[in-house]
Amino acid sequence: MKIPIEKPVLVTSALPYVNGECHIGHLRTYVPADIYVRMLRKMGYDVIFISGSDTHGTPIVLSAEAQGITPEEVVAKYHEHFKRIFQALNVNFDYYGWTDSESNHRRTEEIVKKLIENGYVYKKETKQAFCNTCGRFLPDRYVEGKCPYCGAIARGDECDQGCGKHLEPGEIIEPKCKICGNEADFKQQEHFFFNLSSFTDFLISYLDKLGGTRNARNYALEWTKKELRDWCITRAMEWGVKFPGRDDLVVYVWVDAPIGYISFTEELLNYTTDEKDWRKYWKGNKATIVHFIGTDIIYHHCIFWPAMLKGVGYSLPDAVVASGMVKINGGTFSKSRGNVVRVKEFLERFHPDTLRYYLVAQSSHTKELDFSWDSFSMRVNNELVAILGNLVHRVVSFAYKNFRVVPEGEIDEDVFAAIERTKEEETRVVDEYEFKKLVDSAMKLADFGNSFFQREEPWHLIKMGDAGRERCGEIVKNVLQIIKAVCIGLEAVMPEKMGEVWSQLGMESDVHSVKLEEMMVPIASGQELKKPKKLFELVEI
Ligand code: MSP
Ligand code: ZN
Repeated sequence: MKIPIEKPVLVTSALPYVNGECHIGHLRTYVPADIYVRMLRKMGYDVIFISGSDTHGTPIVLSAEAQGITPEEVVAKYHEHFKRIFQALNVNFDYYGWTDSESNHRRTEEIVKKLIENGYVYKKETKQAFCNTCGRFLPDRYVEGKCPYCGAIARGDECDQGCGKHLEPGEIIEPKCKICGNEADFKQQEHFFFNLSSFTDFLISYLDKLGGTRNARNYALEWTKKELRDWCITRAMEWGVKFPGRDDLVVYVWVDAPIGYISFTEELLNYTTDEKDWRKYWKGNKATIVHFIGTDIIYHHCIFWPAMLKGVGYSLPDAVVASGMVKINGGTFSKSRGNVVRVKEFLERFHPDTLRYYLVAQSSHTKELDFSWDSFSMRVNNELVAILGNLVHRVVSFAYKNFRVVPEGEIDEDVFAAIERTKEEETRVVDEYEFKKLVDSAMKLADFGNSFFQREEPWHLIKMGDAGRERCGEIVKNVLQIIKAVCIGLEAVMPEKMGEVWSQLGMESDVHSVKLEEMMVPIASGQELKKPKKLFELVEI
């Protein structure tokens, strides 16, 4: 989808449940979103980038019970944890909130009341999983059993190991209590339902035009065309946003969580001094809204969420970008099976930019990414060290030793043509959400730089008198131009490392705010180079 340049853009990343530590699977939502935002800004778009912690729902309450602390304590602990991880990885949100904020409680209440007013909510007695041993109802993740659609092991609200379907309370087969492990029963309870099925026609025409990745649109269309069931939007729990007028019920976490996108926009714009208003983003389609998520939550973002927004007359998302899931050595992430790579531990050993690079270079964005230490070390050693690090170190060292500054000379037409091609490929990434193409394209240009330097053999020329030295300088300048261009595109992927390269080149501007156009601007002769340091270390696993 081509994003119109004249409208402001709001980019969001799914809100992580702050019920445990951040693992590299999560990052597949956050790192590409950050890369996308950096690219949009390089192309001159006016962008805000928000996310925040999802503080409600059974994931939080179960984690609190397991740790013997309160939900508030769990949330406070992991909210800080996620914030620190995002900072360490240079995922630079303009605002990172949390869904337990006062404004999110207020906005959720307002939206739910309006849905009721508009006739989209009704009351109904339903059967809910109930544990006789524990004497309590078992909402969502409190219960495990079999998926009624595919038979895989599932949890109360989602077939997370099998077909990925959203499950309504009472649907799961052979329910077991997660607390005591005993078989559970069903019992009648009164709940409120959102009339999702009445949005079927709207959704079919909306999804048809929805931008973003094809997987999101196609899955959602398929589900919508088959049959939409109404959606139970209350839970009998303490922790959450109260359902209006009912002290014994909170809204389902998937109601107040996406509303966080609106509240955080509001919170951000309240803190900034200019005259921006959240309504510009959420009323009257005056902005472009792009959501970054993983494939496991397509249903929520492409079906529930737009129906809810439509039901209250807010702006609708323009694009949903869904990444494939991260697996580990072929299996799913599982904390209980010890199959998990925590980001914190990763960062104790490796530079954050190597992880950012790996996450986009390793597979196409909508495909699964099978993490292994072998594939990580191969990407770093064969690409970052052998191609990029080698180019920068070899060329800048040679230039520094022989000239100290960027030498005089013209940029070859071939070099400009190669850079122009790279720039076009990198621009396309933003329309196609194919971040792998961004790194592939930049690395191809780096490769071209290496062969150019090798072919021209400037180390011979430098020994061949004044004319040789002059030609040598020209070659060096050309390769420095290539490095400058590589650096601008790759800044989106490896902001810290490209900052280092930028300063080695003697550039005075801030690499983080340089526009893509600068790739074609000749590097200034006479600017002072810095003595280069090694860019990447070999990874030995
Ligand atoms: N809280 C919900 C999202 C609410 S958005 C209004 C949630 N949280 S989560 O912590 O489970 O996931 C946060 C993000 O990380 C989601 O985009 C999810 O798809 C992504 N991933 C979590 N585990 C993942 C993998 N193993 N692989 C790829 N993405 C994964 O869902
Ligand atoms: Zn029980």
